[in-house]
Amino acid sequence: MKILDEVSRTLNEFLLVPGLTTADCTPDTVDLGAPLVRHRVGEPAAIRVATPLTSAIMGAVSSPRLAIALAQCGGLSFVHQNQPVAAQAAMVQAVKRHKAGFRFSDINIKPSATLGEVALLLESAERDVAVVTDDGSPHGRFIGLISTDDFHPHRHDLASPVASRMRPAQDLVTAPPTITLSEANTLIWDHRLDVLPVVDAGGLLQSIVLRRDYELHKRFRNESIDADKRFRVGAGVNTHDYRERIPALVEAGADLLCIDSSDGYSVWQADTLAFVRDTYGGRVRIGAGNVVDARAFRYLADAGADFVKVGIGGGSICTTRDQKGIGRGQASALIDVVAGRDAYAAETGVYVPLCCDGGLLTDAHMAVAFALGADFVMLGRYFARFDESPAPLVRVGGQFFKEYWGEGSNRARNVSRYEHGGGSRLTFEEGVDGYVPYAGSLYDNVALTIAKLKATMISCGATGLPGFHRDAVLVPVSQQSFLQNSAEIQLRDRPGDAGR
Ligand code: IMP
Repeated sequence: MKILDEVSRTLNEFLLVPGLTTADCTPDTVDLGAPLVRHRVGEPAAIRVATPLTSAIMGAVSSPRLAIALAQCGGLSFVHQNQPVAAQAAMVQAVKRHKAGFRFSDINIKPSATLGEVALLLESAERDVAVVTDDGSPHGRFIGLISTDDFHPHRHDLASPVASRMRPAQDLVTAPPTITLSEANTLIWDHRLDVLPVVDAGGLLQSIVLRRDYELHKRFRNESIDADKRFRVGAGVNTHDYRERIPALVEAGADLLCIDSSDGYSVWQADTLAFVRDTYGGRVRIGAGNVVDARAFRYLADAGADFVKVGIGGGSICTTRDQKGIGRGQASALIDVVAGRDAYAAETGVYVPLCCDGGLLTDAHMAVAFALGADFVMLGRYFARFDESPAPLVRVGGQFFKEYWGEGSNRARNVSRYEHGGGSRLTFEEGVDGYVPYAGSLYDNVALTIAKLKATMISCGATGLPGFHRDAVLVPVSQQSFLQNSAEIQLRDRPGDAGR
């Protein structure tokens, strides 16, 4: 037995001491860009993000809708693995197909379908236009377009066929498959189109180009996209069915994988990493974790992890510490693992990024995590509160909440995340099922978080995360400081304050 000579500390127990703010420290010059995968020191990483926020590998958090919104804002989601392989691969595909300049047409209908059917299709997909093809498939014969502008349930008989209200192909501008994206966008603007169908010589639909995509691209300058201009998306995997799951996710287009486990210091993680290395060489990138000390970091880095996730027991929905007595304060864990990462980089010349996962309750906690050396953070509760999360919005006692549940809760029963190799079935819960205050749109909240992180870095005189890691000065806070912070003022309630 060994007892560490330290007190386990949380992120809440540190404050940053300001550094000299120089003239080059402005919101426009501060760069939050971060590497996501291992790379040689001094060289750029193959996968980077402009916004160092990732969404947790959780069913209540990382849906295709949230993944698209977060990628637009420059971050990355990890689609959860507590579902059949085909369902997870379909979610990854949904993100990859959302925007490619030339898009796979995913909302299609037959001309013989009813207006009622197309209305339902558009409503459930949250879209306003469907492509009409002879067989209702994405590559059928192109027949026309029908949008919510073409019919109204109060004016038109919903039992009438789509063909009665669609705009037929012969009246529409279409393009041949040889068209370039910039030519397609010129056609869209010249003809005031919302949708440009790309149709081959035989009349079969190939793809569509949307005006909306052009606008989004102009609005979101930091978006996370691959070389084909498709949104980047990650996916969780486990150490059980990885031989089947990983090839399906790679085929679906996942940009980055991550082994999803509450305790990553295991031979099963090394086996999974070896499988990826042996099967794909360096072509597929995969992170591992979670760990809370430098020994475990070194084990996973040596086994080939592309990044390592830090944090056990700190998650807002987590009961691991109560149930099993395992964990470490998130700040203490980070300090130890960051030292391990930096020693590894000095020794091998290879930088393995760290992800701080769980227990980040405020933007200030994120700032402290970055100051302590995290390259990027992973958030569950934070994203669960937004419109874009897949969890239901509910009203309790006059206030709006989103449901949020842990992957180790009975509701999720994510056996692969919590079964530590013994093959036993989940017999106790390591997470809870509850509500978090609804906080509105991801776009607004992420913009606010970015603004706060930049403001912190400016106060500390840093224009980038590497400099922030190197120069940040932190101080542990005393119990008295906490008391002073909860000042003797009765605060006036303001709408929207419940969220933070
Ligand atoms: P949060 O951002 O504090 O809500 O924490 C999210 C993180 O908690 C996830 O990324 C997981 O690492 C972890 N987690 C997810 N589900 C559970 C659970 O049921 N028990 C313990 N930890 C969990």
